[in-house]
Amino acid sequence: MNNFDFKNPTKIIFGKDTIEKVNQEIPADAKVLLLYGGGSIKNNGIYDQVKTALADLDVTEFGGIPANPEYATLMDALKVIKEENITYLLAVGGGSVIDGTKFLSAAAVYDGDTPWDILTKNIRTEKGMPFGTVLTLPATGSEMNSGAVITRKETKEKLAMGGPGLFPEFSILDPQVITSIPERQLANGLTDAFTHVLEQYMTYPIGALLQDRFAESILQTLIEVAPTVLKDPTDYKAASNFMWSCTMALNGLIQKGVPTDWAVHAIGHELTALFGIDHARTLAVIAPSHYKFNFESKKEKLAQYAERVWNITESSTDDKAYAAIEKTVDFFHELGIDTKLSDYTKDYEGTAEEISERFTKRGWTKLGEHQSLSPEKVEKIVKMAY
Ligand code: NZQ
Ligand code: ZN
Repeated sequence: MNNFDFKNPTKIIFGKDTIEKVNQEIPADAKVLLLYGGGSIKNNGIYDQVKTALADLDVTEFGGIPANPEYATLMDALKVIKEENITYLLAVGGGSVIDGTKFLSAAAVYDGDTPWDILTKNIRTEKGMPFGTVLTLPATGSEMNSGAVITRKETKEKLAMGGPGLFPEFSILDPQVITSIPERQLANGLTDAFTHVLEQYMTYPIGALLQDRFAESILQTLIEVAPTVLKDPTDYKAASNFMWSCTMALNGLIQKGVPTDWAVHAIGHELTALFGIDHARTLAVIAPSHYKFNFESKKEKLAQYAERVWNITESSTDDKAYAAIEKTVDFFHELGIDTKLSDYTKDYEGTAEEISERFTKRGWTKLGEHQSLSPEKVEKIVKMAY
């Protein structure tokens, strides 16, 4: 096992009817900006619950943060923060609203030329404007980590940012919120969380027995609850296990002391930037090709995953490893998620070359757990995913 530091300062408030506790977490004298997305919270009662809980606080609102949070919209929100002398941000939404809020937390205290630099120059935020979240969609883990991904339509870019100052101070996780989520987004959430675990697990063995079993248990739990979550999101047992699995998949715990990959996400973000494909679906497109292309270096963990997660115990390491990739594709299909780029766009010719060029320009020449994934290899993986 590798050496590691681990600190996660986010307070989690988990369970039924916990949204009413939001006022206990925000300082009474705060000037709060409540941030939300396209309006789902106004239809499902979450907005009313939050507003009731915050009745005694000074609250301004900013709605309309789109899925794949857009830089231009966030710059409008930044103006509100400055004009209204906001001191505390509250994100009420899924990964997009929470990520947008993290960007604002960083941008509110940034004194460089343009906040876009935070993304292009990898500026880490050591201390941002304080913020909390009310999670409405289990998927990204953003509610308990310090990363964010921001989109800029103008340049068709989607870039990541982060830093120790961007953990939410608290996150409220009421699993009952999933009852209003469309099936398509539930499937996205399951797929995203599943792939987060794979990115931190599907590398090579390093003797981290506990981390491996944490990762495998999250995968097993997601597989177990997936059919019920999709069929009946009012099932609280399934909803609560789904929500907690998504948070645990990307709150830092399972990546400690182990090599991590993240190439599937790096490539997937380009597919969202270029075609607007939902984040989770881009992962389902890239992951199978990525694992097939890097089969030799990943096959020991693939075979372990085959045995422990999919109960494939007969046959050779190679056969088990290959079968595990097929099982993963079948799982995505069962969720209703297509796994080829051509399922999402007819306009895919040239995509592999474009992504490869973008990575070269950005100096992203050494992706993956061995830092051996060059732009040329990325091009081949994307072509395999057509
Ligand atoms: O905008 P509203 O009206 O709220 O509707 C949203 C949106 O249309 C809807 N929704 C959310 N909660 C709902 C609901 N509809 C009904 N009932 C509810 N309770 O769902 C749609 C998708 O929401 P979004 O926030 O975009 O989804 P998700 O949570 O999957 O977030 C995706 C974003 O997170 C980034 C992705 O790249 C993408 O931009 N990620 C962030 C990560 C992180 N910070 O750690 C890691 C991930 O790998 C990912 O990259
Ligand atoms: Zn993801």
